[in-house]
Amino acid sequence: MKIFAALCSLVASSSAISATPFPPDFQWGASSAAYQIEGAVEADGKGKSVWDYYLSDKKIAGPDVNGNTAINFYDRNQYLKDIALFKKLGLTSYRFSISWTRILPDGTGKINEKGIQHYRQFICDLKAAGIKPLITLYHWDMPLTLAARGGWLNRDAIGWYADYAKVIFDNFHDLADQFVLVNEPTVEVAQNTLAAEKLAGKDVGTYPPLIPKKENLGNALKSLNHILLASAAAQNIFRKSGYEGALGIAVPLFPILTEKNAIAADINDAEMTDGIMNRWFLDSIYKGKYPEQVLSFLALNKIDADILPEDAKTIHQANFGFIGVNYYAPLYIRHDLNGDSDYAPEFYNPDDQKIAFTGPVRPDQLERLLAELRLNYGNPDVLITENGAAFKDEDIKVNGQVNDSNRCLYIRDHIGAVAKALEQGSKVKGYYVWSSHDNLEWMSGYRTRFGLIYVDYANQERTPKLSAEIYSRLIKGEIIKDGDCYRS
Ligand code: BGC
Repeated sequence: MKIFAALCSLVASSSAISATPFPPDFQWGASSAAYQIEGAVEADGKGKSVWDYYLSDKKIAGPDVNGNTAINFYDRNQYLKDIALFKKLGLTSYRFSISWTRILPDGTGKINEKGIQHYRQFICDLKAAGIKPLITLYHWDMPLTLAARGGWLNRDAIGWYADYAKVIFDNFHDLADQFVLVNEPTVEVAQNTLAAEKLAGKDVGTYPPLIPKKENLGNALKSLNHILLASAAAQNIFRKSGYEGALGIAVPLFPILTEKNAIAADINDAEMTDGIMNRWFLDSIYKGKYPEQVLSFLALNKIDADILPEDAKTIHQANFGFIGVNYYAPLYIRHDLNGDSDYAPEFYNPDDQKIAFTGPVRPDQLERLLAELRLNYGNPDVLITENGAAFKDEDIKVNGQVNDSNRCLYIRDHIGAVAKALEQGSKVKGYYVWSSHDNLEWMSGYRTRFGLIYVDYANQERTPKLSAEIYSRLIKGEIIKDGDCYRS
């Protein structure tokens, strides 16, 4: 991915778009993840994951934040009503994750049939409503037993995950044919670093450690390498088993930006960040090599990341069926003057941009990112596995309505970017809003809302927001004007 100098004129276009370039079989969806929605953390023999552990400590997200109830989605009475809402909105696909410890409570070994039955029932219920499942095998909820053995830092994690993946494929291949192997490895690694810092009582500052610091770089890349190898192992098992379907990794891609006044140290850090956050995945998956600049940096600084010469080739040879793109915002990078002189990137939000919880609102950068995949990475099949936004103080229910105008405009403009990419030849097969509902936003707890559907946490009442109505109209191919995103 190239480094783009930011131009103020590129800030969010507000032109109205039509959804017409989308083929009839385009997958219109929404996404979620098990721990963020299910609750019922002790039901039916579930084992504990790192998130059960993290949120049992009030230093992580405060005293009352945990996943014990979440949005009660494990409850069939509840989720059937939610599926009915999805159907009403016109969703044709739903992305959800399976909780590893509902299937293998100890992380490895004995299979919990109740867990399998729960998700089989859920998938059947989705399909009965005409909604195609997109199953994520792993969305950050590492079994606690395996975390105690080092989690992704341990090369054995490749085998643990591959065994789990085999259980999933054997038990679900008859019901589903598209699987996201892992979700957002870089963000998972950052969350684990942040959790460790919080548990140690450190002040974590304004920006969480999304980009690994020099002292964490070895461990971060070690985990990422093992996650990629685990995914490759799972893909190979799926193929060898003769199952039919498409598998991919959901990678959070961050177009990297510097401002016009950037100096050499800023540019160097921007390029390194691109190598670590984006090309670490794209170059290994599509070119069979890790970025040279990052490898040289590791060698020069004698940083061990457990990378064997054949690893990147193994990842490439797995030949994944699609790439899942999670896109929220670009990253503006500058060199942290208090950090090491050779590598100390920090991201920041420039004053002249519209800012959402995850960063600047820049649909133009989604279009550029898709062009990059098309032009430099062989134009793979793409699923936009996550795209969405949360804005401060926007999700307030008044007179039975939630008028989330910013989210509404955000979704319309990002779908507009996908439409342009399709017109230019990108092979985007689906788009999934993050998220179907307001839910447990990890360490930000329940106050940060990303949903199309508002959740009243006191009584689990659901209210589709204005953005849900607008998304539904976009799915139908309607043109959405700016004014449609405002309602009095
Ligand atoms: C994750 C989600 C998360 C969302 C919004 C993504 O990084 O996959 O689990 O809720 O972003 O922060």
